[in-house]
Amino acid sequence: QHDLVTVADMSETEVLHKIKLAQLFKAGKRITLNRPVYAMNLFFENSTRTHTSFDMAERRLGMQVLQFDANASSVTKGETLEDTVKTIQAIGVDLAVIRHSENEYYNDLLKQNLDISIVNAGDGSGQHPSQSLLDMMTIYEEFGTFKDIKVSIIGDLNHSRVARSNMELLTRLGAKVAFAGPNQWYDDKFAKYGAHLTVDEVVQDSDVVMLLRVQKERLGDELNDFDEGKYHQKYGLTKERYATMKENSIIMHPAPVNRGVEIDSNLVESDKSRIFKQMENGMYMRMVILTDVMVAKGIINKTDLLGVD
Ligand code: CP
Repeated sequence: QHDLVTVADMSETEVLHKIKLAQLFKAGKRITLNRPVYAMNLFFENSTRTHTSFDMAERRLGMQVLQFDANASSVTKGETLEDTVKTIQAIGVDLAVIRHSENEYYNDLLKQNLDISIVNAGDGSGQHPSQSLLDMMTIYEEFGTFKDIKVSIIGDLNHSRVARSNMELLTRLGAKVAFAGPNQWYDDKFAKYGAHLTVDEVVQDSDVVMLLRVQKERLGDELNDFDEGKYHQKYGLTKERYATMKENSIIMHPAPVNRGVEIDSNLVESDKSRIFKQMENGMYMRMVILTDVMVAKGIINKTDLLGVD
């Protein structure tokens, strides 16, 4: 695949291939680039994990990384995303990793059949494919399968691109998804993926308790009535709810975490938490995403991936 913008059409075989290759990278696998490769990370929304782990993944693969600061770019003079991407293609950039606030910003770019590859690092409340794949890797490392693994996704579902990508991919992989959180942040279109239950119900029954960040920057007027303490008691993972979790169950959260809101601060480092493991896996999974794109472009030989299905 020359671009990676969504998990919508990603097969189980493809996901398992990516997990296997990420585990090989984690074990020290190296690959060879056939020529110098230039990458640019264009982040029009703030990020710590996704931005730095793509940057690290690019450097570990031996790519040259060009700096881009949206606030210092000609986007501030009104240049469009399309013209920005065409510009960096013209100067020789092979691969653009893009985060943007507009849902499906990538559609217009893909229609142009550009030579430069587009990797989606999150679009508005649309998709977050690299986060979803690193989440799949974390679940697979824990349970060795997705079949019938019960995953509850709790919180700000409506604003969450992570929730959208994960509900789609988990269902395709055979996991059982359930939702919880405020009714106003649940949409009936999620019903085909799983039921909307109470937080107490799903926490007791889940193998994976996946918490979502309350996205204050996307709440608008709702933020005026938002009370962090009340939210924590009603919908958060409190110490009391943690005590009801199943023996081998785990906690996930894409982060950044609002400590004391969606999760008790001390539980972020608890035995069941895989939150920092997710971040570690993210770097290896992003190496895979970039590698697969470069294989599709002929910059890495397919034979370099021998032994990976
Ligand atoms: N999980 C995630 O996307 O984090 P950042 O916004 O810090 O990249």
